Parts: sequence; C-alpha cells; structure tokens
Amino acid sequence: MTWLNSSLFFASLLLYCSAAIYDRVDQLRNATTKFDFVIIGGGTAGSVLANRLTESASVLVLVLEAGGSNIGAIPTQIPFFCTLSHPQYDWNYTTTPQEGLSGREIPYTRGFILGGSSSVNGMFYTRGSADDYDRLANVTGDPGWSWENVQIYFRRNEKWTPPADHHNTTGQYDPSIHSLDGINSVSLAGFPQSINENIIRTAIELGGIFQYNLDMNSGKPLGLGWLQTTIDGGNRSSAATSYLGPEFTRRPNLHVLIDTRVTRILQNRPSPGDRLPRLNVVEFAQNPDGPRYQVTASREVLLSAGAIGTPQILLNSGIGNSSYLSSLGITPIVNLPSVGQNFTDHPRLVNNWPVSGNRTFDDIYRNSNLSTFLQNVWSQDGKGPLVDTFVSHLLFARLNASILGQFGEDPAAGVRSAHYELGFSNGDISVAPTGHFIGITTRVVSPLSRGTVLLNSTNPFAAPLISPNLLSNEFDLLAMREALKTSVKFLAAPVWKEYVLGNPDTVFLQPEMIAAKLGFKAPQDEQLDAYIRNNTGTSAHAVGTAAMTGQNSSFGVVNSDFKVKGVEGLRVVDASIFPFIPSAHTQAPVYVIAERAADMIKSFWGD
Ligand SMILES: Cc1cc2nc3c(=O)[nH]c(=O)nc-3n(C[C@H](O)[C@H](O)[C@H](O)COP(=O)(O)OP(=O)(O)OC[C@H]3O[C@@H](n4cnc5c(N)ncnc54)[C@H](O)[C@@H]3O)c2cc1C
Ligand SMILES: *[C@@H]1O[C@H](CO)[C@@H](O)[C@H](O)[C@H]1NC(C)=O
Ligand SMILES: *[C@@H]1O[C@H](CO)[C@@H](O)[C@H](O)[C@H]1NC(C)=O
Ligand SMILES: *[C@@H]1O[C@H](CO)[C@@H](O)[C@H](O)[C@H]1NC(C)=O
Ligand SMILES: *[C@@H]1O[C@H](CO)[C@@H](O)[C@H](O)[C@H]1NC(C)=O
Ligand SMILES: *[C@@H]1O[C@H](CO)[C@@H](O)[C@H](O)[C@H]1NC(C)=O
Ligand SMILES: *[C@@H]1O[C@H](CO)[C@@H](O)[C@H](O)[C@H]1NC(C)=O
Ligand SMILES: *[C@@H]1O[C@H](CO)[C@@H](O)[C@H](O)[C@H]1NC(C)=O
Ligand SMILES: *[C@@H]1O[C@H](CO)[C@@H](O)[C@H](O)[C@H]1NC(C)=O
Ligand SMILES: *[C@@H]1O[C@H](CO)[C@@H](O)[C@H](O)[C@H]1NC(C)=O
Ligand SMILES: *[C@@H]1O[C@H](CO)[C@@H](O)[C@H](O)[C@H]1NC(C)=O
Ligand SMILES: *[C@@H]1O[C@H](CO)[C@@H](O)[C@H](O)[C@H]1NC(C)=O
Ligand SMILES: *[C@@H]1O[C@H](CO)[C@@H](O)[C@H](O)[C@H]1NC(C)=O
Repeated sequence: MTWLNSSLFFASLLLYCSAAIYDRVDQLRNATTKFDFVIIGGGTAGSVLANRLTESASVLVLVLEAGGSNIGAIPTQIPFFCTLSHPQYDWNYTTTPQEGLSGREIPYTRGFILGGSSSVNGMFYTRGSADDYDRLANVTGDPGWSWENVQIYFRRNEKWTPPADHHNTTGQYDPSIHSLDGINSVSLAGFPQSINENIIRTAIELGGIFQYNLDMNSGKPLGLGWLQTTIDGGNRSSAATSYLGPEFTRRPNLHVLIDTRVTRILQNRPSPGDRLPRLNVVEFAQNPDGPRYQVTASREVLLSAGAIGTPQILLNSGIGNSSYLSSLGITPIVNLPSVGQNFTDHPRLVNNWPVSGNRTFDDIYRNSNLSTFLQNVWSQDGKGPLVDTFVSHLLFARLNASILGQFGEDPAAGVRSAHYELGFSNGDISVAPTGHFIGITTRVVSPLSRGTVLLNSTNPFAAPLISPNLLSNEFDLLAMREALKTSVKFLAAPVWKEYVLGNPDTVFLQPEMIAAKLGFKAPQDEQLDAYIRNNTGTSAHAVGTAAMTGQNSSFGVVNSDFKVKGVEGLRVVDASIFPFIPSAHTQAPVYVIAERAADMIKSFWGD
C-alpha cells in the first residue's frame, strides 16, 4: 500500500503540526506525508543525523526504528546493569558456529530500542588513536578524515559532565581536549572502587607499557589511565537521551516512528539528470504479516541500521554481489561485492582472579536485597556503585617488536595505536556464584580476522547469518595470549601481593580450576590458547560491512561522502562504513562519522 502520494492526508497536516514519537503508522499519516530525508534506524548514528538535519526548520525528517522507546526502559538507564542481558531491548542474534572459538555459536547483542546499541552498550568512551583516523583519510583519499580534521566533530558530540560523586577530577583527564558544548555527556567514574589506588600504584611500580596516561582520548591512547564513559550524572547518556532528548523531538519537522521494521529500499523513477538508479523509496512494516508501506524521501534515504541491519537491508534491496543475490532469487540492482564482507569485531575475554578482600561489586549481582537497596540509592540520591559501568581504568598496549616481527605486517593503524586492551573491574561480571574477584577483560583491538553478514532468508524479518570469524587469524590469537600475559604481569606488581590470591599465572584459567586448586604452574601456550578459544566472545564492536573507500577503489560500498557507489539518493551512515576497525570501543568513532555526515549532507543541500 502506498500512501505517500495520496493527497487525502494533506488536510490533516495543518491540524497536526507538532512532531513526536509515534508507534503507529496512522498517527504518522495524520502528522505529515512528505519527507526530505528518511532515516532508517534511530540508533547511534541515525539519532545524530535526525538531530542535526532538523536544525533547519524547513527540512522534514522521518526516522524509522525497529525497536521501542527508551523512555521508561529503566534497566538500560542504570549504568551498572549494562553487563546484564536485556532480551527485550535486544535483537537476540546468535552467530554461526565460530571455528576460532572451538566451534561455539555465541550471542551477538545489538540494541533493539531507540538509541540503538548506544542504549545498551558498556558506555566506554574511547576515541581511538590519531592513526586510526589518519588511516581512514588515507584509505578514502579524503583528508577531512584525519585526526586533526575530525576534532571539530568530537567537540560537537561531547558534553563533558562532572561525575555523579562530584569528586575532584584534577589529574584524571586533560580538560584541554574536551568540550563542554556538545550534546552527549562524557564523564569519569562517579563511585570510588576499592581497587582504584592499587591500579594507579601499579602504573608507578611497573612503568613501561603500564605507564600512566593522563588522557587516553588525546589521540595517543597507549598506557594506563582512567576510563571515560557516556554517563550523565549517574544515568546512561545514549544517542536517544541526548540527540533525541525532549528539546529535539519537540521540533515540528522531526518525526520518529518506532516499532517499525524497514524491509527494503526500492528504486524510484529517475529524476531529471539521473545517470544511476535512484533508491529513495523505503518499504516498511509494523509486523511480519501486516501491510507493507512505502515512503519516499524527496532528497535522500539515510541508512543507519548498524553493521548487521545495514548489509541485510542492502542485500534484500538488490545491492550487493550480483551473482550471490541472483542465487537467492533477489534481482540485483547494483553489483557491490563488498556488502556484508570484511565484517570486523574485537574479540573479548573476561578473566577473573580471586582476591582476599570483600569490597568488590560481586555481591551486587547475587544478593537481590543489596541490589534493590542500591537501586533505591541510585534513584533517590543518584549515587552508589550503580552510577558507573563495570570498569574504571583501561590499559592500551602494543606487542613488542620481536613478536610483531613474526608477522611481517603491523595490523595497527600506526605506532601510536594499540594491539590489545585490558579493562580492570572490581569484581567478576560473569557472576561467579561465590567469592570475590578482580576482573580483567582482555580485547584485541587491531584484529586481522574478517567475517561476513549474509542472508539466511530473503524474509526481512528473519535473522541474517552473522559470522564475525573471531580468532580465525593467528595474529588475533597471539595478541590475546599476550594480553593475558600482560594481565598476569600487572597483577604480579608488588602492590597486589596481599590482595590477589594464589599465583596470578594460573588461577584465572577456569573457575573449576580455582575451585579444585589445580597446580599453580605456569600454563603452556597451548593451554592458554585452548582457554582463549573456549571462552572468547564478542565486544559487539561490529564494523566493516559497508566499507568506505576512495571513489576509484576496486572494493567498498560507499565513497567518502557516505554515498552508496553506483546509485543515487542513498547514503549509509553507521558503524558499517569503517574499512578498518578503530583501536577503540566503537561508539565515539560512530558519533564522529555521523556528525561529519550530517555536516556533509547539510552543505550538499545548502542548509
Ligand atoms: C552490548 C554492547 C556493548 C557495547 N559496548 C560499547 C562500549 O562500552 N563503548 C563503545 O564505544 N561501544 C560499545 N559498543 C558498540 C557501540 O555501541 C556501537 O558500535 C554503536 O552504537 C553502533 O552504532 P550504529 O549507529 O552503527 O548502530 P546502532 O546504534 O546499533 O543503531 C542501529 C539501529 O537501527 C535499528 N535497525 C536495525 N535494523 C532495522 C530495520 N530493518 N528497520 C528499522 N530499524 C532497524 C536498530 O534497532 C538500531 O536502533 C557496544 C555494543 C553493544 C551491542
Ligand atoms: C487521524 O486522523 C483521522 C481523521 O482526521 C482520525 O479519525 C484519527 O483518529 C486520527 N488518528 C490519530 C491516531 O490521531
Ligand atoms: C528478543 O526476545 C525478547 C523476549 O525474550 C523480545 O521481547 C524481543 O522483542 C526480541 N527481539 C526481537 C528483535 O525480536
Ligand atoms: C596512503 O599511505 C601510503 C603509504 O604511506 C602512501 O603511499 C599513499 O600515498 C597514501 N595515500 C593517500 C591518498 O594519502
Ligand atoms: C583539586 O585537586 C587539585 C590537585 O590535587 C587542587 O590543586 C585543586 O585545588 C582541587 N580543586 C578543588 C576544587 O578542590
Ligand atoms: C560473488 O559471489 C559469488 C557467489 O557467491 C562468489 O563466487 C564470488 O567470489 C563473489 N564475488 C566477489 C567479487 O566477491
Ligand atoms: C576487504 O578489505 C581488504 C582491505 O583490507 C580489501 O583488499 C578487500 O578487497 C576487501 N574485500 C571485499 C570483498 O571487499
Ligand atoms: C568483609 O571482610 C571484613 C574483614 O575481613 C569482615 O569483617 C566483614 O564481615 C566482611 N563483609 C562481608 C559482607 O562479608
Ligand atoms: C533479604 O531480605 C529478606 C527479608 O528482609 C531476608 O529474609 C533474606 O534473608 C535477605 N536475603 C539476603 C540474601 O540477604
Ligand atoms: C536520571 O534522570 C532522571 C530523569 O530522567 C533524573 O530525575 C535523575 O535525577 C537522574 N539520575 C541521576 C542519578 O542523575
Ligand atoms: C617480547 O614478548 C615475548 C612474549 O611475551 C617475550 O618472551 C620477550 O621477552 C619480549 N621481548 C622483549 C624484547 O621484550
Ligand atoms: C537459517 O534458516 C534455517 C531454516 O529456516 C534455520 O533452521 C536456521 O536456524 C537459520 N539460521 C539462523 C542463524 O538464523
Ligand atoms: C575447552 O573446551 C573443551 C570442550 O568443552 C574441553 O574439553 C577443554 O578442557 C577446555 N579447555 C580449557 C583449557 O578450557
């Protein structure tokens, strides 16, 4: 059913001129029927676009979001509960069997809620290294992507905010590289964990790769420092709470329709001067068996469904590898074999060591009385351990030259960039039934493994085939092993002597081993590798499935202006576009590319 061009609804346009968030198509029809831009996905990037494009009052924007509202989704609002699973706000994906992970199929979380993955993520705010952006500039041939040139977009995104406990943050970050006038709150931890002093002490005792870094968001992330997070005085700050906050959704030219699944993008009749197919008609539905609607963007469709949703929609729309699409019975419109390929993620491993103290956060997860008590403290006073995520400090480190020499290539973007990361937790986020722990989450941040997002079915309501192929490249396994060895070195610092129980070399291997007190003997690399493959999962930092490359590149999906190669009227703006994964948790990079995309789109249309 096509209702867009029906003049029936024009009369009511005059009656309903205030914008809002709707959950039914008929509410939208009453509001307006014509849009300049249709944004697919009200997630991290989509919310930025919606906000920035509606700064011009004459530009009409529609956002179509599959998930529901973030308002009242309390479990997503409480920072500490980000480690718990929230199926109601999740796409509930599972990967295909992962060879590099001992053949396991693992859950693959994606936010199914306004704000997208920024509404469910761990809130780590890490920009990555200057090299990451300089490499993007190099690969795309667009100097606008250099670290220096994207600083303006970090500043537009970030609103530096005091932590919940208003402690003195002098010496914990560098104010000169932060912005007070952006939209999305960024903060330091607002609850003092008992291990904080020991962590800083370790940096002093060990030096070297553990050296204290005043601010890891300076473009030079190497070393150990305080984690910054997207938290606003104790509440999660997501793309929905910030960019789609009430002062913005009140704009009469912004319309957001939630609980709505985009199924395909369709070809329109050519506009005068078109040389390429024009894909600016969006097909959507509110349930699998319900009617399919269509809406046309008079200017452009902006695809921001994330690194899983975006390739699925592109493939279902006939944009991808033509022979692959034909084999599925989909009529190819443009042959772009890179769609859904080069899928990249950061492998993540949660390791725990038993400790002698009991001032950890372990009990919060297993004592419901304590949890309830702390929720009351959080909601009444905006204080307590629930105001923070599960990590207060990070270490970014590089492999040493002799290890790197075995590989002949350095997968990092440059010498200022890390190969792996350690995140320190005052407890076990995998919720051991008893005991008290220090947790170190290890991640490979310059992985060489590449995977795919392909179709299992042409039904847009069916899940795609998701294969991050984690640890399929030997480099990634080696880097994870080194990250583990670095964790052991960290805990072997004198300051931890009384606190960490047993020999840090071995006790993390398996909870069962801890219980059985199996021989405290340093494991062989083979044992470490088996442990790694058995226990590694995803960081949910999916990128690369619609890569940005130079105009004349032999591969890639979008050009440096986000326009899909070979078509008119369609751009992709989300985590899919990174041709290489940044050495960072991916939300800050996504915010930055979305801010620049908005700038480019506005200047293209003269707004
Ligand atoms: C559990 C988890 C923890 C993470 N932790 C961190 C962290 O601590 N720090 C960090 O920096 N990064 C983290 N990340 C990664 C980061 O959140 C993402 O890289 C980023 O949010 C991706 O932004 P995006 O705009 O590409 O996609 P998303 O924010 O996921 O937005 C995509 C949106 O499109 C919608 N959508 C998809 N398909 C359709 C469709 N067919 N029709 C309509 N709507 C659709 C989705 O519902 C979603 O709202 C985490 C991610 C997850 C899932
Ligand atoms: C939309 O408008 C029609 C006709 O004016 C009205 O009957 C209907 O109730 C309206 N729907 C909503 C959701 O406001
Ligand atoms: C995931 O499962 C939960 C129920 O466990 C459900 O509420 C939610 O809608 C599901 N997500 C999707 C995208 O279907
Ligand atoms: C990218 O980097 C390579 C290697 O340093 C260099 O040869 C090339 O000229 C660079 N390309 C651009 C467009 O900057
Ligand atoms: C914060 O600490 C710094 C250094 O420790 C000190 O110089 C400064 O006066 C303190 N600020 C406040 C407001 O107490
Ligand atoms: C396109 O898909 C076909 C069939 O799946 C495959 O054989 C071919 O290698 C792919 N082409 C490219 C360029 O990846
Ligand atoms: C994947 O990325 C590499 C560069 O990292 C590129 O050479 C290759 O062509 C890409 N593959 C596809 C299918 O896009
Ligand atoms: C924590 O340890 C202290 C000192 O050993 C002890 O007095 C206290 O009862 C313990 N608290 C809990 C909750 O176990
Ligand atoms: C929680 O509180 C209830 C009632 O006050 C009490 O019976 C129960 O033992 C408590 N549970 C724990 C784990 O402390
Ligand atoms: C969280 O936001 C709510 C409004 O949604 C506000 O009332 C509350 O004070 C905030 N809590 C904290 C801890 O900042
Ligand atoms: C490099 O790392 C390896 C493995 O951890 C270690 O055996 C070696 O001693 C290190 N080399 C140098 C020069 O630090
Ligand atoms: C793919 O489709 C088959 C057949 O419908 C189904 O059994 C399987 O679970 C699907 N796989 C995934 C990953 O959804
Ligand atoms: C890895 O998993 C396999 C299969 O479950 C098990 O036999 C093996 O003991 C595990 N190894 C380690 C080190 O966890």
